[in-house]
Amino acid sequence: MAETDFDVIVIGSGPGGYVAAIRAAQLGLKTACVESRETLGGTCLNVGCIPSKALLHASELFEEANHGTLAKFGVKLGSVELDLDTMHGEKAKAVKELTGGIAMLFKKNKVEWLKGHAAFTGANSIDVAGKAYTAKNIIIATGSSVTPLPGVEIDNEVVIDSTGALALPKVPKHLVVIGGGVIGLELGSVWRRLGAQVTVVEFLAEILPGMDGEVRKEARKIFKKQGFDIKTSTKVTKVVRNGAGATITIEPSAGGSAETIEADAVLVSIGRRPNTDGLALEKAGVRPDNRGVIEVDHSFRTKVPGIWAIGDVTPGPMLAHKAEDEGIAVAENIAGQTGIVNHDVIPSVVYTHPEIASVGKTEEELKEAGTAVKVGKFPFLANSRAKTNRDTDGFVKVIADARTDRVLGVHIISSLAGTMIAQAAQAMEFGATSEDIAYTCHAHPTHSEALKEAAMAVTGLPIHI
Ligand code: FAD
Ligand code: NAI
Repeated sequence: MAETDFDVIVIGSGPGGYVAAIRAAQLGLKTACVESRETLGGTCLNVGCIPSKALLHASELFEEANHGTLAKFGVKLGSVELDLDTMHGEKAKAVKELTGGIAMLFKKNKVEWLKGHAAFTGANSIDVAGKAYTAKNIIIATGSSVTPLPGVEIDNEVVIDSTGALALPKVPKHLVVIGGGVIGLELGSVWRRLGAQVTVVEFLAEILPGMDGEVRKEARKIFKKQGFDIKTSTKVTKVVRNGAGATITIEPSAGGSAETIEADAVLVSIGRRPNTDGLALEKAGVRPDNRGVIEVDHSFRTKVPGIWAIGDVTPGPMLAHKAEDEGIAVAENIAGQTGIVNHDVIPSVVYTHPEIASVGKTEEELKEAGTAVKVGKFPFLANSRAKTNRDTDGFVKVIADARTDRVLGVHIISSLAGTMIAQAAQAMEFGATSEDIAYTCHAHPTHSEALKEAAMAVTGLPIHI
């Protein structure tokens, strides 16, 4: 190949793209990363993981103070007031620090940041803001954006997407959330804690599709107890703006009589779709499927030599850590090493209270595949630390192969589920059996002991229940 400007150009600086760019540069490859946003870090750092977790944390503190949780432990406060501007300010600071941190890492690692929108002009060439660049390898890491609901226009004032829901200037009286998935429940939790009445309209018979069935049922019970109004098997047929609010028409998913709900804000959170429009992929010969997804092999190669793809534009869960791991692996593969991601062991966490975390297969998936399993469950009601903290919602469920005892899935609802799931993921990555977890010494008193007890329950012999 003729001399190119770069060894690697990465399109997109989200958790997939920026990590791929840094690793490629660390491995001695001359690397650039194109980003059309003002700041680096993609959806995750700018309008996703980070700002949502900032508001989840702050709103949880507010609820603890406001709803008497602190008072129950003898921490008495005077009147509690919400200062939403300060809350948004802290969120913005976290985003600024973290996105600025990526710019520093780019400098440190000598990754060149090409500012602007990239479009292919050939298999090894792109245009960015009117300038042509060539590279031996191009990695597509352009991420995803919100799936629109046909006929419903997002204005980000009343009818909002997740970005609008992260920036509401005041607490809506009534927020209607369309879609009982991760975004709907996380951002619905934020505004419920800050005082909104929240109604979730979910098309399917249960919230949180894709999660383990028992977890979904338990989560719904807990969210209802918290005050969410959850309407499952229900679809939204119309959203009409009326001055400062909107009228939402709903009817049973299977058809039936319609009713209307009035709301001050409507959050559309029915999923996300890959960003493959506007890249002129046809000029490079890359063909996404009809949903915009780019198929790759296990090395993250597309069908066009020299073009690779990672993160939300590729199949699999749309998660930041999946994109990051793929970013490392693709750079290692380009450098001639062997970069691998084990897609069977990718944890996922819903950062509500309690958190809902999962890794591996659900019981339903395993039944469907005809795999005989043994299941161990342990409730936090019987965990001493959870009891001490008055924090007993949820359980741990360990699913193991009935023949080999190898752990195939772990599902946790608990305030600390997101942290606990890392241990389960590591055990599964090492091919652990439920007995391996059961015979690992766990510190006392910790929530993690519930994982040990659930593993012990796989063979039927937990101690504390
Ligand atoms: P992205 O982060 O989407 O980055 C792609 C970047 O490419 C963008 O900055 C975009 O501007 C840029 N780009 C696109 N096209 C072009 C082009 N042609 N030229 C130049 N630049 C371009 N995941 C988690 O794991 N944990 C969470 O807690 C979590 N919370 C979330 C909360 C919300 C509200 C949302 C919306 C998502 C959340 N996610 C979370 C999902 C996570 O953000 C994504 O899975 C992750 O960002 C995907 O990374 P990526 O690198 O594939 O793409
Ligand atoms: P989602 O796929 O999690 O949930 C969408 C929900 O909307 C589903 O329950 C679906 O059945 C429902 N739905 C679809 N069409 C509908 C309709 N017409 N009417 C009513 N309900 C409808 O998608 P969501 O919440 O938008 O999030 C997108 C992605 O972003 C997630 O899948 C996840 O990958 C990522 N994300 C991850 C987070 C995390 O890891 N904590 C946090 C936020 C987002």
